Amino acid sequence: MKVLVTGGAGYIGSHACVALLNAGYDVVVIDNLCNSSAESLSRVRALTGRTLNFVQADLCDAAALDDLFRAHTFDAVMHFAGLKAVGESVAFPLRYYRNNVIGSTTLLETMLAHGVKQLVFSSSTTVYGWPSKVPIDESAPVVPVNAYGRSKAMIETIIADWCTLDPTHAAINLRYFNPVGAHPSGQLGEDPRGIPNNLMPFVAQVAVGRQPKLRVFGDDYPTADGTGVRDYIHVVDLVEGHLAALSYLQTTPGLTTVNLGTGQGVSVLDLVRAFERACGKPIPYDIVARRPGDVAACYADPSLADRLLGWRTQRDLDAMCGDAWRFQQQNPNGYGG
Ligand code: NAD
Ligand code: UFG
Repeated sequence: MKVLVTGGAGYIGSHACVALLNAGYDVVVIDNLCNSSAESLSRVRALTGRTLNFVQADLCDAAALDDLFRAHTFDAVMHFAGLKAVGESVAFPLRYYRNNVIGSTTLLETMLAHGVKQLVFSSSTTVYGWPSKVPIDESAPVVPVNAYGRSKAMIETIIADWCTLDPTHAAINLRYFNPVGAHPSGQLGEDPRGIPNNLMPFVAQVAVGRQPKLRVFGDDYPTADGTGVRDYIHVVDLVEGHLAALSYLQTTPGLTTVNLGTGQGVSVLDLVRAFERACGKPIPYDIVARRPGDVAACYADPSLADRLLGWRTQRDLDAMCGDAWRFQQQNPNGYGG
Protein backbone atom coordinates (compact mmCIF):
# COMPACT_ATOMS: atom_id res chain seq x y z
CA MET A 1 0.00 0.00 0.00
CA LYS A 2 1.16 3.50 -0.78
CA VAL A 3 0.37 6.24 1.74
CA LEU A 4 0.65 9.98 1.27
CA VAL A 5 1.76 11.64 4.51
CA THR A 6 1.04 15.37 4.60
CA GLY A 7 3.19 17.25 7.11
CA GLY A 8 5.49 14.22 7.23
CA ALA A 9 8.59 16.28 8.06
CA GLY A 10 6.97 17.51 11.30
CA TYR A 11 7.10 16.09 14.80
CA ILE A 12 4.28 13.53 14.66
CA GLY A 13 4.36 12.99 10.88
CA SER A 14 8.04 11.96 10.91
CA HIS A 15 7.33 9.34 13.60
CA ALA A 16 4.38 8.13 11.52
CA CYS A 17 6.68 7.74 8.50
CA VAL A 18 8.97 5.47 10.54
CA ALA A 19 6.04 3.36 11.71
CA LEU A 20 4.57 3.10 8.19
CA LEU A 21 7.89 2.23 6.54
CA ASN A 22 8.71 -0.34 9.23
CA ALA A 23 5.28 -1.90 8.66
CA GLY A 24 6.02 -2.25 4.95
CA TYR A 25 4.00 0.63 3.50
CA ASP A 26 5.40 2.82 0.74
CA VAL A 27 5.44 6.44 1.81
CA VAL A 28 5.39 9.78 0.00
CA VAL A 29 5.63 12.99 2.02
CA ILE A 30 4.33 16.42 1.12
CA ASP A 31 5.42 19.26 3.40
CA ASN A 32 6.15 22.95 2.83
CA LEU A 33 8.67 22.91 5.72
CA CYS A 34 7.02 25.97 7.31
CA ASN A 35 7.55 24.41 10.74
CA SER A 36 10.08 21.65 10.12
CA SER A 37 13.23 20.68 8.31
CA ALA A 38 14.02 18.02 5.72
CA GLU A 39 16.67 16.70 8.14
CA SER A 40 13.90 14.78 9.94
CA LEU A 41 13.20 12.87 6.71
CA SER A 42 16.90 12.03 6.24
CA ARG A 43 16.77 10.54 9.70
CA VAL A 44 13.58 8.61 8.89
CA ARG A 45 15.42 7.06 5.92
CA ALA A 46 18.45 6.23 8.06
CA LEU A 47 16.35 4.70 10.86
CA THR A 48 14.27 2.51 8.56
CA GLY A 49 16.75 1.76 5.77
CA ARG A 50 13.91 2.52 3.36
CA THR A 51 13.48 5.09 0.63
CA LEU A 52 10.88 7.78 0.95
CA ASN A 53 9.79 10.32 -1.65
CA PHE A 54 9.54 13.90 -0.52
CA VAL A 55 7.80 16.76 -2.33
CA GLN A 56 8.21 20.24 -0.90
CA ALA A 57 4.92 21.98 -1.64
CA ASP A 58 2.02 23.71 0.05
CA LEU A 59 -1.29 21.89 0.50
CA CYS A 60 -3.12 25.01 -0.67
CA ASP A 61 -1.36 24.64 -4.05
CA ALA A 62 -3.96 22.68 -6.05
CA ALA A 63 -1.72 22.29 -9.11
CA ALA A 64 1.14 20.84 -7.05
CA LEU A 65 -1.26 18.40 -5.38
CA ASP A 66 -2.72 17.38 -8.72
CA ASP A 67 0.79 16.69 -10.08
CA LEU A 68 1.57 14.60 -7.02
CA PHE A 69 -1.61 12.52 -7.34
CA ARG A 70 -0.87 12.01 -11.06
CA ALA A 71 2.64 10.81 -10.27
CA HIS A 72 1.54 8.27 -7.63
CA THR A 73 -1.42 6.01 -7.00
CA PHE A 74 -2.19 6.43 -3.32
CA ASP A 75 -4.25 3.98 -1.31
CA ALA A 76 -4.65 6.32 1.65
CA VAL A 77 -3.67 9.71 3.06
CA MET A 78 -2.47 10.49 6.59
CA HIS A 79 -3.08 14.20 6.99
CA PHE A 80 -0.84 15.87 9.59
CA ALA A 81 -0.05 19.15 7.81
CA GLY A 82 -1.32 22.18 9.66
CA LEU A 83 -0.46 25.09 11.91
CA LYS A 84 -0.93 24.23 15.58
CA ALA A 85 -0.05 27.12 17.92
CA VAL A 86 -3.09 28.23 19.91
CA GLY A 87 -1.75 31.70 20.79
CA GLU A 88 -0.70 32.41 17.21
CA SER A 89 -4.15 31.34 16.02
CA VAL A 90 -5.75 33.95 18.27
CA ALA A 91 -3.45 36.68 16.91
CA PHE A 92 -3.68 35.55 13.25
CA PRO A 93 -6.94 33.62 12.86
CA LEU A 94 -7.21 34.06 9.10
CA ARG A 95 -3.78 32.48 8.64
CA TYR A 96 -5.14 29.42 10.45
CA TYR A 97 -8.30 29.22 8.37
CA ARG A 98 -6.35 29.65 5.13
CA ASN A 99 -3.64 27.17 5.94
CA ASN A 100 -5.60 24.51 7.80
CA VAL A 101 -9.08 24.71 6.29
CA ILE A 102 -8.22 25.62 2.70
CA GLY A 103 -5.22 23.26 2.72
CA SER A 104 -7.44 20.39 3.90
CA THR A 105 -10.21 21.24 1.43
CA THR A 106 -7.73 21.30 -1.44
CA LEU A 107 -6.43 17.92 -0.32
CA LEU A 108 -9.95 16.45 -0.19
CA GLU A 109 -10.82 17.87 -3.62
CA THR A 110 -7.69 16.27 -5.05
CA MET A 111 -8.45 12.95 -3.37
CA LEU A 112 -11.95 13.08 -4.83
CA ALA A 113 -10.67 13.88 -8.32
CA HIS A 114 -8.20 10.98 -8.19
CA GLY A 115 -10.42 8.42 -6.46
CA VAL A 116 -8.35 8.18 -3.25
CA LYS A 117 -10.82 7.06 -0.62
CA GLN A 118 -9.11 6.65 2.73
CA LEU A 119 -8.14 9.44 5.11
CA VAL A 120 -6.65 9.53 8.60
CA PHE A 121 -6.91 13.06 10.02
CA SER A 122 -4.98 14.69 12.90
CA SER A 123 -7.64 16.33 14.97
CA SER A 124 -7.20 17.52 18.53
CA THR A 125 -8.78 17.55 21.94
CA THR A 126 -8.86 21.30 21.41
CA VAL A 127 -12.17 20.77 19.53
CA TYR A 128 -13.82 20.08 22.91
CA GLY A 129 -13.00 23.59 24.17
CA TRP A 130 -13.41 23.81 27.95
CA PRO A 131 -14.68 20.34 28.80
CA SER A 132 -17.56 20.21 31.26
CA LYS A 133 -16.40 16.87 32.63
CA VAL A 134 -13.40 14.53 32.57
CA PRO A 135 -12.57 12.01 31.32
CA ILE A 136 -13.71 13.29 27.92
CA ASP A 137 -15.39 10.84 25.57
CA GLU A 138 -16.25 11.41 21.91
CA SER A 139 -19.86 12.37 22.68
CA ALA A 140 -18.71 15.55 24.47
CA PRO A 141 -19.86 18.71 22.68
CA VAL A 142 -17.57 20.22 20.05
CA VAL A 143 -17.23 23.85 21.20
CA PRO A 144 -13.72 25.06 20.36
CA VAL A 145 -12.63 28.32 21.95
CA ASN A 146 -9.88 29.56 19.63
CA ALA A 147 -9.22 29.77 15.88
CA TYR A 148 -6.92 26.73 15.90
CA GLY A 149 -9.63 24.61 17.51
CA ARG A 150 -12.29 26.04 15.20
CA SER A 151 -10.12 25.22 12.17
CA LYS A 152 -9.91 21.58 13.35
CA ALA A 153 -13.67 21.42 14.00
CA MET A 154 -14.37 22.87 10.53
CA ILE A 155 -12.10 20.30 8.89
CA GLU A 156 -13.89 17.49 10.76
CA THR A 157 -17.18 18.81 9.32
CA ILE A 158 -15.77 19.06 5.80
CA ILE A 159 -14.47 15.48 6.07
CA ALA A 160 -17.94 14.36 7.18
CA ASP A 161 -19.40 15.93 4.01
CA TRP A 162 -16.66 14.36 1.88
CA CYS A 163 -17.66 10.98 3.33
CA THR A 164 -21.27 11.48 2.23
CA LEU A 165 -20.16 11.96 -1.40
CA ASP A 166 -19.35 8.29 -1.86
CA PRO A 167 -20.39 5.37 0.38
CA THR A 168 -16.95 3.83 -0.11
CA HIS A 169 -15.11 6.85 1.35
CA ALA A 170 -13.54 5.99 4.72
CA ALA A 171 -12.17 8.61 7.13
CA ILE A 172 -11.18 8.76 10.76
CA ASN A 173 -10.71 11.85 12.92
CA LEU A 174 -8.12 11.13 15.59
CA ARG A 175 -8.47 13.57 18.47
CA TYR A 176 -5.06 13.64 20.13
CA PHE A 177 -4.56 14.60 23.73
CA ASN A 178 -1.00 15.84 24.54
CA PRO A 179 1.64 14.16 22.33
CA VAL A 180 5.11 14.15 23.89
CA GLY A 181 8.30 12.07 23.86
CA ALA A 182 10.47 11.02 20.97
CA HIS A 183 11.70 8.05 18.98
CA PRO A 184 13.70 5.82 21.36
CA SER A 185 16.79 6.14 19.12
CA GLY A 186 17.10 9.84 20.04
CA GLN A 187 17.15 10.60 16.30
CA LEU A 188 13.62 12.01 15.94
CA GLY A 189 11.77 14.30 18.30
CA GLU A 190 10.03 17.60 18.81
CA ASP A 191 12.02 20.61 17.61
CA PRO A 192 9.88 23.68 18.24
CA ARG A 193 10.95 26.96 16.68
CA GLY A 194 11.71 29.73 19.20
CA ILE A 195 10.74 29.43 22.85
CA PRO A 196 8.51 26.35 23.35
CA ASN A 197 4.90 26.99 24.36
CA ASN A 198 4.30 23.45 25.53
CA LEU A 199 5.35 21.97 28.82
CA MET A 200 7.48 18.94 27.85
CA PRO A 201 9.74 20.68 25.27
CA PHE A 202 10.15 23.61 27.67
CA VAL A 203 11.18 21.29 30.51
CA ALA A 204 13.61 19.49 28.18
CA GLN A 205 15.20 22.82 27.24
CA VAL A 206 15.57 23.75 30.92
CA ALA A 207 17.29 20.40 31.53
CA VAL A 208 19.74 20.95 28.67
CA GLY A 209 20.45 24.56 29.73
CA ARG A 210 18.71 26.39 26.87
CA GLN A 211 16.11 27.90 29.23
CA PRO A 212 16.94 29.03 32.77
CA LYS A 213 13.78 28.03 34.63
CA LEU A 214 10.31 26.60 34.10
CA ARG A 215 7.32 28.78 34.92
CA VAL A 216 4.51 26.65 36.32
CA PHE A 217 1.29 28.37 35.31
CA GLY A 218 -0.79 28.24 38.48
CA ASP A 219 -0.89 25.97 41.55
CA ASP A 220 -4.40 26.89 42.65
CA TYR A 221 -6.42 24.66 40.31
CA PRO A 222 -8.87 22.17 41.85
CA THR A 223 -6.46 19.27 41.17
CA ALA A 224 -4.50 17.04 43.57
CA ASP A 225 -1.42 19.31 43.71
CA GLY A 226 -3.05 22.47 42.35
CA THR A 227 -1.25 22.38 38.97
CA GLY A 228 -2.86 21.70 35.58
CA VAL A 229 -3.62 18.09 34.68
CA ARG A 230 -3.27 16.72 31.13
CA ASP A 231 -3.21 13.40 29.30
CA TYR A 232 0.33 13.07 27.91
CA ILE A 233 0.69 10.40 25.23
CA HIS A 234 3.96 9.01 23.86
CA VAL A 235 4.34 9.94 20.20
CA VAL A 236 5.23 6.33 19.31
CA ASP A 237 1.98 5.10 20.90
CA LEU A 238 0.16 7.85 19.03
CA VAL A 239 1.50 6.81 15.62
CA GLU A 240 0.76 3.16 16.39
CA GLY A 241 -2.83 4.38 16.84
CA HIS A 242 -2.64 5.76 13.29
CA LEU A 243 -1.59 2.39 11.89
CA ALA A 244 -4.46 0.74 13.76
CA ALA A 245 -6.79 3.40 12.31
CA LEU A 246 -5.51 2.75 8.79
CA SER A 247 -6.20 -0.98 9.19
CA TYR A 248 -9.67 -0.18 10.51
CA LEU A 249 -10.48 1.91 7.42
CA GLN A 250 -9.86 -1.13 5.19
CA THR A 251 -13.11 -2.65 6.45
CA THR A 252 -15.05 0.37 7.70
CA PRO A 253 -16.36 2.99 5.28
CA GLY A 254 -17.90 6.25 6.47
CA LEU A 255 -16.68 8.57 9.20
CA THR A 256 -15.30 7.52 12.57
CA THR A 257 -14.03 9.79 15.35
CA VAL A 258 -11.89 8.57 18.25
CA ASN A 259 -9.81 10.01 21.06
CA LEU A 260 -6.17 9.02 21.27
CA GLY A 261 -5.00 9.38 24.86
CA THR A 262 -3.89 7.27 27.81
CA GLY A 263 -6.82 8.06 30.10
CA GLN A 264 -4.32 9.07 32.83
CA GLY A 265 -4.28 12.61 34.22
CA VAL A 266 -0.76 13.88 34.96
CA SER A 267 -0.07 17.20 36.72
CA VAL A 268 2.64 19.69 35.77
CA LEU A 269 4.58 18.76 38.91
CA ASP A 270 4.18 15.00 38.21
CA LEU A 271 5.76 15.60 34.81
CA VAL A 272 8.57 17.74 36.28
CA ARG A 273 9.42 14.98 38.78
CA ALA A 274 9.40 12.31 36.06
CA PHE A 275 11.68 14.44 33.91
CA GLU A 276 14.05 14.93 36.86
CA ARG A 277 14.25 11.13 37.20
CA ALA A 278 14.98 10.84 33.47
CA CYS A 279 17.72 13.47 33.31
CA GLY A 280 19.13 13.00 36.79
CA LYS A 281 19.11 16.69 37.70
CA PRO A 282 16.71 19.14 39.28
CA ILE A 283 14.40 21.21 37.05
CA PRO A 284 14.25 24.67 38.63
CA TYR A 285 10.81 26.27 38.52
CA ASP A 286 8.76 29.20 39.80
CA ILE A 287 5.03 29.11 40.37
CA VAL A 288 3.47 32.00 38.45
CA ALA A 289 -0.07 33.09 37.55
CA ARG A 290 -2.40 30.83 35.56
CA ARG A 291 -2.02 31.03 31.77
CA PRO A 292 -5.16 32.62 30.29
CA GLY A 293 -7.36 30.07 28.53
CA ASP A 294 -5.96 27.00 30.35
CA VAL A 295 -8.31 24.42 31.84
CA ALA A 296 -7.68 22.72 35.18
CA ALA A 297 -7.87 19.15 33.92
CA CYS A 298 -8.21 17.49 30.54
CA TYR A 299 -7.83 13.77 29.96
CA ALA A 300 -9.33 11.18 27.68
CA ASP A 301 -11.72 8.35 27.91
CA PRO A 302 -9.74 6.24 25.41
CA SER A 303 -12.04 3.20 25.53
CA LEU A 304 -13.58 3.73 22.07
CA ALA A 305 -10.16 3.48 20.41
CA ASP A 306 -9.60 0.23 22.28
CA ARG A 307 -12.99 -1.17 21.22
CA LEU A 308 -12.87 -0.08 17.57
CA LEU A 309 -9.18 -0.12 16.73
CA GLY A 310 -7.88 -2.64 19.24
CA TRP A 311 -5.36 0.00 20.28
CA ARG A 312 -4.24 1.19 23.68
CA THR A 313 -1.12 2.99 24.89
CA GLN A 314 1.89 0.97 26.03
CA ARG A 315 4.40 3.61 27.21
CA ASP A 316 4.33 5.36 30.59
CA LEU A 317 5.38 8.84 31.71
CA ASP A 318 8.93 7.69 32.51
CA ALA A 319 9.34 6.40 28.94
CA MET A 320 7.94 9.69 27.57
CA CYS A 321 10.42 11.73 29.61
CA GLY A 322 13.35 9.36 29.02
CA ASP A 323 12.88 9.44 25.25
CA ALA A 324 12.30 13.22 25.15
CA TRP A 325 15.48 13.70 27.18
CA ARG A 326 17.52 11.42 24.89
CA PHE A 327 16.47 13.45 21.84
CA GLN A 328 17.19 16.74 23.62
CA GLN A 329 20.61 15.55 24.82
CA GLN A 330 21.65 14.19 21.43
CA ASN A 331 20.26 17.25 19.62
CA PRO A 332 20.63 20.16 22.06
CA ASN A 333 19.76 22.64 19.31
CA GLY A 334 17.23 20.43 17.55
CA TYR A 335 17.69 19.45 13.91
CA GLY A 336 19.50 22.71 13.17
CA GLY A 337 22.25 22.01 15.72
P1 NAD B 1 4.43 20.06 13.25
O1 NAD B 1 4.33 21.54 13.08
O2 NAD B 1 5.70 19.50 13.77
O3 NAD B 1 4.10 19.33 11.87
C1 NAD B 1 3.19 19.86 10.94
C2 NAD B 1 3.88 19.81 9.58
O4 NAD B 1 2.98 20.33 8.60
C3 NAD B 1 5.14 20.68 9.53
O5 NAD B 1 6.19 19.91 9.01
C4 NAD B 1 4.77 21.83 8.60
O6 NAD B 1 5.87 22.29 7.88
C5 NAD B 1 3.70 21.19 7.73
N1 NAD B 1 2.71 22.11 7.15
C6 NAD B 1 1.95 23.01 7.80
N2 NAD B 1 1.14 23.64 6.92
C7 NAD B 1 1.39 23.10 5.70
C8 NAD B 1 0.87 23.34 4.40
N3 NAD B 1 -0.07 24.27 4.18
N4 NAD B 1 1.34 22.59 3.39
C9 NAD B 1 2.30 21.67 3.59
N5 NAD B 1 2.83 21.41 4.79
C10 NAD B 1 2.38 22.12 5.84
O7 NAD B 1 3.20 19.62 14.16
P2 NAD B 1 2.89 18.21 14.84
O8 NAD B 1 3.00 18.39 16.31
O9 NAD B 1 3.63 17.14 14.16
O10 NAD B 1 1.33 18.11 14.50
C11 NAD B 1 0.84 17.36 13.41
C12 NAD B 1 -0.66 17.49 13.36
O11 NAD B 1 -1.22 17.05 14.59
C13 NAD B 1 -1.15 18.94 13.18
O12 NAD B 1 -2.25 18.93 12.31
C14 NAD B 1 -1.56 19.35 14.58
O13 NAD B 1 -2.59 20.33 14.54
C15 NAD B 1 -2.09 18.03 15.13
N6 NAD B 1 -2.04 17.98 16.59
C16 NAD B 1 -0.84 18.19 17.22
C17 NAD B 1 -0.81 18.18 18.62
C18 NAD B 1 0.48 18.44 19.36
O14 NAD B 1 0.42 18.78 20.54
N7 NAD B 1 1.65 18.28 18.74
C19 NAD B 1 -1.98 17.94 19.35
C20 NAD B 1 -3.16 17.71 18.66
C21 NAD B 1 -3.18 17.72 17.26
N1 UFG C 1 2.51 24.67 31.44
C1 UFG C 1 3.30 25.29 32.40
N2 UFG C 1 4.42 25.95 31.97
C2 UFG C 1 4.79 26.01 30.66
C3 UFG C 1 3.97 25.36 29.69
C4 UFG C 1 2.83 24.71 30.12
O1 UFG C 1 3.00 25.27 33.59
O2 UFG C 1 5.82 26.64 30.35
C5 UFG C 1 1.32 23.93 31.89
C6 UFG C 1 0.01 24.44 31.32
O3 UFG C 1 -0.51 25.48 32.12
C7 UFG C 1 -0.85 23.18 31.32
C8 UFG C 1 0.17 22.06 31.07
O4 UFG C 1 1.44 22.60 31.41
O5 UFG C 1 -1.40 22.98 32.60
C9 UFG C 1 0.21 21.59 29.62
O6 UFG C 1 0.40 22.72 28.76
P1 UFG C 1 0.80 22.54 27.22
O7 UFG C 1 0.98 23.92 26.67
O8 UFG C 1 1.93 21.60 27.08
O9 UFG C 1 -0.47 21.81 26.60
P2 UFG C 1 -2.00 22.26 26.50
O10 UFG C 1 -2.81 21.15 27.08
O11 UFG C 1 -2.22 23.60 27.05
O12 UFG C 1 -2.23 22.37 24.93
C10 UFG C 1 -1.66 21.44 24.01
C11 UFG C 1 -1.53 22.11 22.65
C12 UFG C 1 -2.89 22.39 22.08
C13 UFG C 1 -3.70 21.14 22.02
C14 UFG C 1 -3.74 20.50 23.37
C15 UFG C 1 -4.39 19.15 23.29
O13 UFG C 1 -0.80 23.32 22.78
O14 UFG C 1 -2.75 22.87 20.77
O15 UFG C 1 -2.44 20.29 23.89
O16 UFG C 1 -3.83 18.39 22.26
F1 UFG C 1 -4.95 21.43 21.65
